Amino acid sequence: SRSIRLAVIPGDGIGPEVVAQGLRVLTAVLPSDVKLETREYDLGARRWHATGETLPDAELESLKEHDAILLGAVGDPSVPSGVLERGLLLKLRFAFDHHVNLRPSRLYPGTAGPLAGRPDIDFVVVREGTEGPYTGNGGSLRTGTPAEVATEVSVNTAYGVERVVRDAYARAQARPRKKLTLVHKDNVLVYAGRLWKSVFERVGREFPEVTTDYLHVDAATIFLVTQPERFDVIVTDNLFGDILTDLAAAVSGGIGTAASGNINPDGTFPSMFEPVHGSAPDIAGTGTADPTATVLSVALLLRHLGYEREAARVEDAVAADLAGRAGAAARSTEETGSALVNLVSEVRGDS
Ligand code: NAD
Ligand code: IPM
Ligand code: MN
Repeated sequence: SRSIRLAVIPGDGIGPEVVAQGLRVLTAVLPSDVKLETREYDLGARRWHATGETLPDAELESLKEHDAILLGAVGDPSVPSGVLERGLLLKLRFAFDHHVNLRPSRLYPGTAGPLAGRPDIDFVVVREGTEGPYTGNGGSLRTGTPAEVATEVSVNTAYGVERVVRDAYARAQARPRKKLTLVHKDNVLVYAGRLWKSVFERVGREFPEVTTDYLHVDAATIFLVTQPERFDVIVTDNLFGDILTDLAAAVSGGIGTAASGNINPDGTFPSMFEPVHGSAPDIAGTGTADPTATVLSVALLLRHLGYEREAARVEDAVAADLAGRAGAAARSTEETGSALVNLVSEVRGDS
């Protein structure tokens, strides 16, 4: 019989609240012959305060023994900024070579927000996940003095750029519109920009059916709001992709609905699925966080593990739920989770 070994990192703030609902939906949608084994990891602010650890080697090793990882969010106001973000989340992305950070955006019918009613938002950002300014390649001189100098060097390798660009072309090729937009800033970041552009052009020759386009990142933010329909697949650098996908979330279903997958395409290491949003300390503990982003991340996880039908059921459930939300009273995290559990169960009963 089939099984899924799932590592769960609830993390901080609203992380545990939304992950609990994601797990309920996962359990409800899986066929009865699939055995779900979960192992929960106590990582994040609580652990750091208790032991000073962010991600010990033993945990990193044991995480490897899983088919996938589901993560809530990390980061807490009581921990210095960057300690958990770098020491836990980025450490995982780097150690497990999650070079494809997949962040789809769809405006589901009925969704509120600044672009409500536009039926044509359906694109995916392929964000590079292991390079750029995220590598920690920088430093500070004369720290704390009036002569302080801080650098944060963006690392772009031909190897790293080529593999993510090729992945993005393959995704564009597989979609009906077959369009790929490179987003960078080669008018200012000339060295990295030249590498990205030349790789983009060279790899593009292998995909003659894919239409290509280039936008500077600042202009891309305009078009994400004014003409989101022009995007199909976007490929971009780690930091640009981070910023663009919060914007993409805001113009589609909102930050509470944006899902992501940190993918290790060759399967050497487990891929990791998480909402695009963070730990939201401003609403943590109120029971009002929207678990939809986590539930849609569960759909990405299911698809990654080959459970396409179940992934589609989860997405259909979310679509149905969002369609019914307009004008309805605000719900708690758990109420939304229950609504989605009911919907995936209904859809399952139909087939
Ligand atoms: P955030 O995404 O946590 O919150 C931004 C805003 O969106 C807040 O007003 C928050 O209430 C709202 N929001 C986020 N998720 C929501 C949800 N599911 N439902 C309803 N509203 C939601 O971003 P931030 O405030 O910049 O960061 C807070 C902490 O989270 C920081 O420590 C940051 O480093 C960390 N962070 C972690 C991740 C991650 O673990 N992947 C991602 C982003 C930020
Ligand atoms: C995200 C987050 C992370 C990022 C931080 C918390 C390291 O903002 O997943 O989008 O910048 O990638
Ligand atoms: Mn982000």
